[in-house]
Amino acid sequence: MEAQKHTASTQTLPPTYDDAVRNANPAVESPILARQTWWRKKQFIIALVALLCLIIFGVVFGVVYGTKRASSKDSINLSPSEEPVTQIGSSTISAAVSVRTASTAVSTLIPSPSPSKLPLLQPKSKVPLDISGAAGSSSTLVVWDLRSDGKLWAKEYGAGWQEYTTRRFLVAPVAIRTTDESIQMAFSVDAYTGHIVYMTFIEGHWDYENWNELDGPLKFLTRPTVVARSTGNIDVFNIDSEGKAFTVSYDRGSWGTWTELGSGFVGDLSATSWGEDRIDVFGKYHDNDHVLHKWWTSADGWSSEFEDIGFAFGEVHEDDLDIGSPLSISYISRTGSTIIDVFLCGQSTYHKLYTDGVWTDWAIMWASHEGYEFSDTQSLVLGIVSYTPSFDLPIGHLISRGTDDCIHYTTFNGTSWNFWDFLWCLEDRTSGEWPTRFLPTAAVRRGTGRVADFLARDLNGDVLLYEAPGPEHGPDERPWSNGDWEVLGHGG
Ligand SMILES: *[C@@H]1O[C@H](CO)[C@@H](O)[C@H](O)[C@H]1NC(C)=O
Repeated sequence: MEAQKHTASTQTLPPTYDDAVRNANPAVESPILARQTWWRKKQFIIALVALLCLIIFGVVFGVVYGTKRASSKDSINLSPSEEPVTQIGSSTISAAVSVRTASTAVSTLIPSPSPSKLPLLQPKSKVPLDISGAAGSSSTLVVWDLRSDGKLWAKEYGAGWQEYTTRRFLVAPVAIRTTDESIQMAFSVDAYTGHIVYMTFIEGHWDYENWNELDGPLKFLTRPTVVARSTGNIDVFNIDSEGKAFTVSYDRGSWGTWTELGSGFVGDLSATSWGEDRIDVFGKYHDNDHVLHKWWTSADGWSSEFEDIGFAFGEVHEDDLDIGSPLSISYISRTGSTIIDVFLCGQSTYHKLYTDGVWTDWAIMWASHEGYEFSDTQSLVLGIVSYTPSFDLPIGHLISRGTDDCIHYTTFNGTSWNFWDFLWCLEDRTSGEWPTRFLPTAAVRRGTGRVADFLARDLNGDVLLYEAPGPEHGPDERPWSNGDWEVLGHGG
């Protein structure tokens, strides 16, 4: 702050005496007037007054400008929540977290390198994670569209597309809300720094202009996964650029420190929580594609080691088998059982069920058609966990893209996955290739009244929206049509 003040005052140094006199009265050097002493005296007084005015102006301007600079610098460290909170992790604490608030007011005063001159980081995912959405039980659906060069656009349902101009992003935001919806946040990764950034939902709206950055030495190139195990806690997980799994906790207003959970991961992590006392994290190990599992309990903190929950595809598989990242959901059932279901796609789709501490073997799911599913095009959300037997809605919703260039949909009833339905298919397939292979899907968990929303991208780059059907239905019973999807257009 001292340095800022100093800089400010040197920029506004008072003029020299000679300059002041000359500027105050250019006639000072006239030989005619020089002989008139009375005039010279008056001239001297005028010059003196002018000089005093200039000095006072200089000092006042320096102080005011310096203070303004200093206070705008303060606003960068708006939330200096560096004090560590109670850690839920037990492993190495590797990096302190501080929160930096970017506001447009600051960026106009403090010059920063032009974003276009810095290299943009490239996300590691094979399928671009460039669409997503968020909604609470009563708030409007917001849809995010990440365009080229990391430009992120948002559209509140029924309104137009709006760009976040203050940053570039690596992935479309991942939204999370606590069960009481008192905290809603959306997380992404800054495309220049690789730092996690987040935005909050305040007073009925996303605080669009304020993406806060979790500073630190860690660089992330993949999508964060986030859980809200209780009304005051958010836990963020991601794999850093060196394949290490990290987590950081938000506890009733302040951020803790990054904790390393393990190393050797590829792809994206998947984290889930069935309640206040528990978090489960799944990741894919790099050299044998085993799925690793680590869990946190309020009683014991993080389990010391990652548990290998095996490999769905057996020990012998083709090396070029394209295996996606695991996806997971968890909840407490109507009868009080703790349930986790983990999904894995390696062309065929598998799931593994956990009930009250016991894992089943990986079980192959139905095929959606004669071909297979493209890895990492899936999205999975927890549906409505009903505690009333007469109100049976699906507990899990999964959408996927397959080699038929269609979007498939299946639901989880608590023990097994249903047959697949078709929701959308590419019209006018002209070549033998699969044009939709690297197009993502996204699923948005809704509150009461609406089960889930699905988002997909079509070949025009448009974002499509589909409302998940309510009550469960049998296979192929429900007619489907591309026209059931609403075309939302795209950002930019
Ligand atoms: C889920 O569906 C399967 C297959 O139809 C059935 O056997 C099972 O009982 C169902 N589970 C529940 C909890 O309804």
